[in-house]
Amino acid sequence: MGLLNNRTAVVTGAGRGIGRAIAETFVREGAKVVINDIDSDPAEEAKAACEKIAGEGCAITSIGSVADSAYTDSLMKAAADTFGKLDILVNNAGITRDKMIHNMSDEMWNFVIDINLKGTFNCIRSASPYLRGASKQEIESGGLKYHRKIINFFSTAALRGNPGQANYTAAKMGNVGLTRTIAQEWGRFGINVNAVAPGFTDTRLTKAKESTDGTVGIPAAQREAILKMIPFGRAGVPQDIANVVLFFASPLSDYVTGQAINVSGGLQIP
Ligand SMILES: NC(=O)c1ccc[n+]([C@@H]2O[C@H](COP(=O)([O-])OP(=O)(O)OC[C@H]3O[C@@H](n4cnc5c(N)ncnc54)[C@H](O)[C@@H]3O)[C@@H](O)[C@H]2O)c1
Repeated sequence: MGLLNNRTAVVTGAGRGIGRAIAETFVREGAKVVINDIDSDPAEEAKAACEKIAGEGCAITSIGSVADSAYTDSLMKAAADTFGKLDILVNNAGITRDKMIHNMSDEMWNFVIDINLKGTFNCIRSASPYLRGASKQEIESGGLKYHRKIINFFSTAALRGNPGQANYTAAKMGNVGLTRTIAQEWGRFGINVNAVAPGFTDTRLTKAKESTDGTVGIPAAQREAILKMIPFGRAGVPQDIANVVLFFASPLSDYVTGQAINVSGGLQIP
């Protein structure tokens, strides 16, 4: 018996890293999953990995940007059209474009805000008919059958402040505000809204910049300094984050809402 039997989830940015680990964890626990990503090849790889775990028909892909609200409408509709409903939304898609603020262009600011913050807003609003609408209908016709769930993403870098990431840290703290607000707006519909901050987690975003094409990643020296600040002495792996997202997606967290939690191996926030 899986923790997510008979549940349908949309996971944004699920082609790589943490999102992919979430998609794989969810199908292992019995959910049907819509794998969103802006890049189709990694999304197809994630779908194949899910099918290896839970068999054909457990996942579909949907390619497009969470920054585009017309697209996010079609993303949520794809979940309902294919699997009959939508119960869980994980707003994991994220991106960085780092520069000190005096050198940060409008394009870099808007790009990062549009994906990390407006993307979360777009997805929640697009999911409203399926999450809020379905719960409201259940309540009006006899009683809520189960809690529906939203999990948003922020970052320990945003809590701490991080030189070079004015755009990213502003967007991620915005997601905490969204989380607390929607938890209050939709609490009476039995919709739980919580936020997870990965600490320093091994993915494309935290690779040494010197080893990437330079658009994402962080300088090797900064990487080493952060690793030294983690009491457990290691970076996180995507599964560490997926385990906590699973808790927030499952009935185990039915009485928890509006919370923002660090999953960081004890990385201290001053
Ligand atoms: N890795 C870390 O240490 C860390 C720390 C704090 C927060 N986070 C957050 O965790 C989440 C996952 O990050 P990750 O480390 O797995 O990164 P990642 O780059 O490995 O994966 C992110 C995925 O999002 C996709 N994506 C990017 N823009 C998109 C868009 N517009 N629409 C849809 N998909 C898009 C990418 O193609 C990619 O597959 C992000 O929100 C990130 O900000 C990560």
